[in-house]
Order: sequence, then structure tokens, then C-alpha cells
Amino acid sequence: MRTSDEIDKAVHAAVEAAAWAPSVHNTQPWSFVVSGEEISVRSDSDRRLPVEDPAGREMLISCGAALLNVRLALREMGYEPLVRVLPDPDRRALLATVRLGPAARPDEHTRLLHTQIERRRTHRGDFTGEELPERFVEAVCGEAAAEGVRLTPVRFAAGVRVLAALTRAAQEVHAQDQGFSLEVLRWSRSPDSTRRDGVPAEAYPREAEPGDGSPGFFARRDYAHGRPWGYEPPEQSSETGSPGVVALLTTAGDEREHWLAAGQGLQRALLFASAYGVRAAFHTQALELPQLREFIRLRLCSGEHPQMIMRLGVAPEAAATVRRPLTEILDERP
Ligand SMILES: Cc1cc2nc3c(=O)[nH]c(=O)nc-3n(C[C@H](O)[C@H](O)[C@H](O)COP(=O)(O)O)c2cc1C
Repeated sequence: MRTSDEIDKAVHAAVEAAAWAPSVHNTQPWSFVVSGEEISVRSDSDRRLPVEDPAGREMLISCGAALLNVRLALREMGYEPLVRVLPDPDRRALLATVRLGPAARPDEHTRLLHTQIERRRTHRGDFTGEELPERFVEAVCGEAAAEGVRLTPVRFAAGVRVLAALTRAAQEVHAQDQGFSLEVLRWSRSPDSTRRDGVPAEAYPREAEPGDGSPGFFARRDYAHGRPWGYEPPEQSSETGSPGVVALLTTAGDEREHWLAAGQGLQRALLFASAYGVRAAFHTQALELPQLREFIRLRLCSGEHPQMIMRLGVAPEAAATVRRPLTEILDERP
């Protein structure tokens, strides 16, 4: 028999873990309802990005990553998580319910992934030139596959150049469009901000575009937007300046269930990579423009639906991040 203290501890630990998930612009577009042994994972559409993410695709990828953390935390505490994804079509915000299932000892792999939940960070910048072994990259992709989604390294140089060029074009379109610009401004934090969401100034480089003009350069989001915010990017040397391994996360379909699966696969791959000191940088601007996303789908994803564009590599210690407190995201019901 489980005591109510044990149940309480497990569900709280799971929601705390969920909060550490990555989310687009650190919007943290989720909330959780705990009732007895059940956790409901809900989307918070007030935190959806109306211009960049009208359909809520990126919001659900973010929530999918949070759902994976819930599952891992429960497993780590010795409970089999019993998950129902999108259990009620009439309640669109209800993305999943997770119940504490039978007792189950956590395996080593679960433990390894779990250790990274609070350590993983998004990288924004170049990587050192350290090569990632082929077998390691395959193992990262295997983590995504375990969630039913596909992570594919882009191995041909022309493919990398095309993706980089599309990212630069998308970034330029965003820069020229007031709606896109205002949305990024809204979610980038000033250096002295006490907000617990948005991208902290210590987490993005001062200049969005160092302007080296190389065809493999992936344009970054312009979080500083001309303001003297962000950290000073390190000097480039032969040791730095590598784009790393460029990879595409894709799904067979493009419905809400696929977006949630993409988030879970993404997070599993990121946690695994983080356990070996490998970090990810994201460049999702092109996927926010439907024509470019469709082009990438047809030309670079064998018809699968692109959900994330990322680079993987080794980088010096991680940047800052922030999260909202549990009191803001957790609703406890009898
Ligand atoms: C769907 C999605 C899209 C994202 N797109 C970008 C992006 O284009 N550029 C970027 O720098 N970070 C991107 N991120 C990373 C978030 O900004 C990051 O997760 C958030 O700021 C929290 O920081 P952390 O991951 O270091 O904890 C994305 C994350 C998600 C889940």
C-alpha cells in the first residue's frame, strides 16, 4: 500500500521535473493538475505564440518534452507511469493524464536520463571542433526513435548549406515583420529582469549575426534586437566555429499527437546527449513560415513533417535559464 505522503512526493517531483523541459522562447506553455495518483498535463494557450505558432505546434512540442520529464521522474521514483495521450477530444487543453502505475525498479538508462533533467541547457552559438563519434550520433537518434519519431543527421554538405540558407532567409523575414519581431521582443528578458520566463540575457549572444557570411552559418534568433543585452560571444579560433552535427526531427504525421511525440522524442534525445556533454542549438525560424516548412518537408525530409532543426556539438559550460515556481503551474485538487 502506498501512503498519501509517498504519492504526494512522487507527483510533486514529477511536476518539478516537467518544469525543466525546453520550450519555445521559454514560454513554459503548460500547467499541471494533480488529483490523488493522477497528473494532468495541460497546455496554457495564453502562452502560445500567436504569430510564430498559430496552430500551437511548438507549444505542443514543448509540452511533449514536459510530459517525458513527468514519465522519467515517476520511473526514477519506482513507479510505472500509465499515460493516456489526448484522452478527451472535447478538452483540447488536456494533453495527457499520467497515473502512478505498479511499482517498478528504474533501470540504469532511466537513471542516466533523469540526472540530466535539470542540467540540460539550450546552446546558442558555435561548437568546439570536437567530432561526435558516428555511433554516438546513432544512439542519440535511437532515443528519438524510442518515442516513435525520427531524428536524422543531415550528412551531405549541400543539405546543410540549404538548411542554413533557409534559416537565414527566415530570420530575415522575421526581422522585417513587426509581428514576428514583437513576439521575440516580448519573450527576451533584460539583464536585470526578475521574470521567471522568457530567454534570459545571459543565455543569448549580444549579436544575433556575427556576419562571417559562411554558407554553413545558421542564423540565430535576434533576442537582443539592437539593445546592449546578451553575453559577449567568445573570440573565434580554429578550436571554435564549428556548426556541429545538423539534424532534423521529423514525424510521419502532423497532428497534435505527432507534435506531442516529437516533444517526447526531442527531450529524450537531448537528455541522452547532455549525459555525454553534448548540447543542442535550435534554429526553428524556417519551420514557422509555412512555405519554407513545406519546402523542407518535400526536399529534405523524404515527405516526413519537419518539427525541429538543430545542431549538436560540444560547447563550454551552459548558459543560464529560469523557470516559473511550482505555485504558478500546479493546481492541486482533492
Ligand atoms: C519547439 C521549440 C523551438 C525552439 N526554437 C528555438 C530557436 O529557434 N532558437 C533558440 O535559440 N532556441 C530555441 N528553442 C529553445 C528555447 O529557447 C529554450 O528551451 C528555452 O529558452 C529554455 O531554455 P533551456 O532549454 O536552456 O532550459 C526552442 C525550443 C523548443 C521546445
